[in-house]
Amino acid sequence: MAETPTYIVRPATEADSLQINDIVNYEVMHSVSNFNYGQRSQEDGLAWFKTTIAGGYPILVATTVVDGQEVVAGYASLGVFRAKDGFRFSAEYSLYIHHEHRKRGLGRILLRDLLAEAKARNFHAIIGSISGGNEGSFRLAKEFGFRVVGTMKENGYKFDQWIDNTFVELLL
Ligand SMILES: CC(C)(COP(=O)(O)OP(=O)(O)OC[C@H]1O[C@@H](n2cnc3c(N)ncnc32)[C@H](O)[C@@H]1OP(=O)(O)O)[C@@H](O)C(=O)NCCC(=O)NCCS
Repeated sequence: MAETPTYIVRPATEADSLQINDIVNYEVMHSVSNFNYGQRSQEDGLAWFKTTIAGGYPILVATTVVDGQEVVAGYASLGVFRAKDGFRFSAEYSLYIHHEHRKRGLGRILLRDLLAEAKARNFHAIIGSISGGNEGSFRLAKEFGFRVVGTMKENGYKFDQWIDNTFVELLL
């Protein structure tokens, strides 16, 4: 039986943005966890990385080594909740695990470390938006004490269907 690889979590670098982009684009094409229809270009992925870091938000990656090469197996980040001064202590989280590295505890580890980083950076309210049917994200958020704020019915549309979105919030 194949051994479960060893992972490390570290702050992301600009070079990681390519692999992060691939992980995001897989979800764009295959799931409703990301509501874009079209893939993000590498340039836009790099621009996202730079804007996020410049805005004072963390991006963490979990990496492992495959055939001697470091591979990004997942990432967690914070970003702007709403671009108004009074919301500066709030942030929305993103958490994506590469589909080949799921159910190995990486989502839990990355979210734990992201929340610790959020606290260290003095954020107060961490917000998530979870699309209907995303059982893994709901369970993970609940495990960390996020409370369900409310569900917006059918405010998303992808793959020819209406999709609900639920806001969750954790005060640090
Ligand atoms: C949701 C996601 C982040 C979970 O990551 P993961 O590394 O597979 O999760 P973990 O292995 O750390 O699991 C932690 C807990 O989450 C829950 N969970 C994870 N995946 C699940 C699934 N598919 N169904 C039900 N529960 C699940 C379980 O409670 C699990 O605890 P357990 O292992 O003790 O049963 C991952 O599936 C993912 O990246 N999905 C696509 C992108 C996405 O949906 N991002 C979140 C947007 S809010």
